[in-house]
Amino acid sequence: MQGKKVSESKIEMRELVLPNDTNLLGNLLGGTLLHWIDVAGAMAASKHSQSIVATAAIDSVDFNMPVRAGEMVVLKAKLTWVGRTSMEVLVEVCSDNFLTGETHLANRAYLTFVALDENGKPQPVPPLIVETEEEQKEYQEAMKRREERLKRRKSNNSSSQCK
Ligand SMILES: CC(C)(COP(=O)(O)OP(=O)(O)OC[C@H]1O[C@@H](n2cnc3c(N)ncnc32)[C@H](O)[C@@H]1OP(=O)(O)O)[C@@H](O)C(=O)NCCC(=O)NCCS
Repeated sequence: MQGKKVSESKIEMRELVLPNDTNLLGNLLGGTLLHWIDVAGAMAASKHSQSIVATAAIDSVDFNMPVRAGEMVVLKAKLTWVGRTSMEVLVEVCSDNFLTGETHLANRAYLTFVALDENGKPQPVPPLIVETEEEQKEYQEAMKRREERLKRRKSNNSSSQCK
């Protein structure tokens, strides 16, 4: 399968924070932001693999600062690593205030997606061509994160019965 560059599947998604997306203090709801992060990540993974994808894992997400109603949220998603059927995607979230022109990096999250065939079974994805020093660094670090996720998966699977 022919490799694809990181730049070929980069996604930028924008959302306006409306009152319905906020809590009683007028701050963006964590669950709504997670939904947007998932959608942006899935679009990048689908673009790379040219297939439907399922979210296998979302690493811990820290909410560094509140995003306020009326601000714009800019989500940038790019692939950092691929395995045989799985892909790691980094999503960076910035808030952008129209009135003041201020922008802030609000969140960073790593997600793992799996490419699925028409029967919902994992299918191979194209290799990832990393070009820049930053992309190479991300790729090396992604392998360590994957090891941790697989350990977590193993321990979750060994206790997956509901009591
Ligand atoms: C994710 C899913 C498709 C994996 O299917 P599976 O039959 O268990 O397949 P495998 O064990 O062969 O795993 C496929 C790939 O996913 C990776 N993977 C699976 N679970 C993972 C996890 N929790 N963290 C990281 N990678 C994971 C495997 O390492 C493998 O990667 P590789 O092919 O690159 O080596 C399946 O577990 C699933 O459908 N989960 C529910 C997904 C879902 O409902 N998401 C929310 C809505 S989209």
